[in-house]
Amino acid sequence: MNSISAILQKFETDLAACSKVADVLNLKAQVLGKQGALSEILKGMKDATPEERKTLGAEANTAKGKMEALVSEKINTLEAQEINATLLKSKIDFSLRESVMEKGLTAAGLHPVTIVQREIEDIFLSMGFEVLDGPHIEDDWHNFEALNIPATHPARDMQDTFWFQDKKHLLRTHTSTIQVRGMKTRKPPFRFVGPGKVFRCERTDASHEMCFHQLEGMMVGEDVSVGNLIYFMKTLLSEIFKKDVEVRLRPGFFPFVEPGFELDIKCLICGGKGCSVCKHVGWVELLPCGMVHPNVLKAGGIDPDKYNGFAFGLGLDRLVMMRYGIDDIRLIHGADLRFNSQFKTF
Ligand code: FA5
Repeated sequence: MNSISAILQKFETDLAACSKVADVLNLKAQVLGKQGALSEILKGMKDATPEERKTLGAEANTAKGKMEALVSEKINTLEAQEINATLLKSKIDFSLRESVMEKGLTAAGLHPVTIVQREIEDIFLSMGFEVLDGPHIEDDWHNFEALNIPATHPARDMQDTFWFQDKKHLLRTHTSTIQVRGMKTRKPPFRFVGPGKVFRCERTDASHEMCFHQLEGMMVGEDVSVGNLIYFMKTLLSEIFKKDVEVRLRPGFFPFVEPGFELDIKCLICGGKGCSVCKHVGWVELLPCGMVHPNVLKAGGIDPDKYNGFAFGLGLDRLVMMRYGIDDIRLIHGADLRFNSQFKTF
């Protein structure tokens, strides 16, 4: 018995000194394994009296159970310590902005298109609109057919399209594809906006890019009017510019709206005097819009005799240019940190 309690005592001391799971397992093998100290004692029991054997066996079992419990407790503790140490090493404290700045690292900022897009989303969310998304790669039907632009329609040439080799798929040329997807998946009345990148095979200049951003909007219900359309457009512009901006509404042709309008903004780069952004006319095309054509409602699964609606397709990059006085759209897409870092940081 004395030797069993001595083994247990030594085991406890040795276990306390273990700092790795592997050491614990070694110790366990040394004491409890086939050749272990405890097993040796049990082997020696053959010379003991039946009485002694009974007591010794019970003591040995209790000691074994205790040691096994101590081993699993120790392993748990060591594993938890290991996890905590790893977490501590990879810990990032986002509140340490000042010390990050001291190390010469600058805080990230939001891209101006993101800033304005989020503001517009908030404005429309507050007016009961949903915000929808759609894929960049589209098929002919969503980009053209469903929008009342059949295969032979000359309006296909209004937007130079990047086609895939299968001649069926394309990079969406406008966010009006989101209109189609939105109509297909909801029942009137509904209203939503859909921002995103669009792609056109165009020559770039101060106000044209090949990949740019639009923000589509659509409202469908039983009595939607041009008055509603103008109200929402005015609200959008006054919220974004926080001042009165001069706009003009003129007729515009898009096969998917009837009547269609072009809403232009007085160029804020030159104040209307004429510059490369407004192509020297003093006005910038910003917000084409109109009342949704009955054929488009039909393609979206909506009864045009019962419902009508408006749609618009905001040129987001141009709005950003007007808002911040940026005189070349290519700066927006140039990924130049000297440009990007001028906008709001987190
Ligand atoms: C359209 O894309 C229509 N889908 C808009 C629409 C939606 C009309 C719903 C009616 C109802 P448009 O091709 O004009 O229309 O483009 C819309 C806006 O995107 C333009 O007013 C302009 O602000 C912007 N835009 C057009 N092309 C470019 C370009 N290459 N680079 C930057 N912005 C552009």
